[in-house]
Amino acid sequence: MIEFTNYCKNDCYYCGIRSSNRNVSRYRLSEEDIIQCCQEGYALGFRTFVLQGGEDPYFNDDRMCRIVSSIRKQFSDCAITLSIGEKSRESYQRFFDAGADRFLLRHETADFSHYAMLHPETLSPQNRQRCIMDLQSIGYQVGTGFMVGSPFQTTDNLVSDMLFLHAVQPSMVGIGPFIAHKDTPFADKPSGTLELTLFMIGLIRLTLPYALIPSTTALGTISPIGRELGLKAGANVVMPNLSPVSVRKKYMLYDNKICTGEESAQCVQCLKNRVENVGYHIVVSRGDVARKEFEI
Ligand code: SAM
Ligand code: FES
Repeated sequence: MIEFTNYCKNDCYYCGIRSSNRNVSRYRLSEEDIIQCCQEGYALGFRTFVLQGGEDPYFNDDRMCRIVSSIRKQFSDCAITLSIGEKSRESYQRFFDAGADRFLLRHETADFSHYAMLHPETLSPQNRQRCIMDLQSIGYQVGTGFMVGSPFQTTDNLVSDMLFLHAVQPSMVGIGPFIAHKDTPFADKPSGTLELTLFMIGLIRLTLPYALIPSTTALGTISPIGRELGLKAGANVVMPNLSPVSVRKKYMLYDNKICTGEESAQCVQCLKNRVENVGYHIVVSRGDVARKEFEI
């Protein structure tokens, strides 16, 4: 995971890097910095890179295409995943043609009235879902997902999320507990719980047997063994942070985010040990989804 910009034009109520948070020290990695992160990752054995950031207009389509093509050219045996928010179908097509394989765009909540409680009016659940459909029809392996325990979330909302996942059949599902950030309108809201997040991971694994499900940093933030328990509940992906240490504390989506001090190599070693402690081992590959294995 390379967190390449914390500039964002959006103002999601839950998110620490929302545009109206004036306490964030903003940064952007240069194209050279991003390639350098990939080089470090490649040397550590990674064959899959995720570029994640806020919706930063500086990274326009031309710039993103340039970055994607240069990663594709230099690391031809690696998967490239983008997580850069809502774009037009044309933009998604351009990134795909430049060499991107996957796209992570959580639907956040499948319930439209709940969506309106978490986002300003400028953002609509219809557009978010349009993006997910466009990405799938272009041919990306698509990841969607939601926060567990986000403010005002009900059990019915989680049922809608599960029905949404069942309908969309995404290749990846990213879920993690909501955790408050002190400079957001939700500063005083309680975090999602470990127990409910693990339960939801289990349900998603049963619903989508092939899916890539990360055991997220947010899960590791609410419990020191959260990521290990996530793997035991059904997650099968870990995403070590490859961002330069100098910017990690600036990509603070929520309070007390872990893994903001270590070098990439330390992150990898730590995760390797954690995964082995619960009886698994890390596969070093592109990690493509193998849906066919699960066809009856
Ligand atoms: N801008 C891109 C997008 O909209 O998909 C990617 C970056 S966004 C920060 C990535 C994810 O972080 C969001 O989809 C959201 O679910 C999660 N997130 C944001 N704030 C959070 C919080 N306070 N607690 C837990 N997860 C959070
Ligand atoms: Fe844009 Fe969170 S509000 S990344």
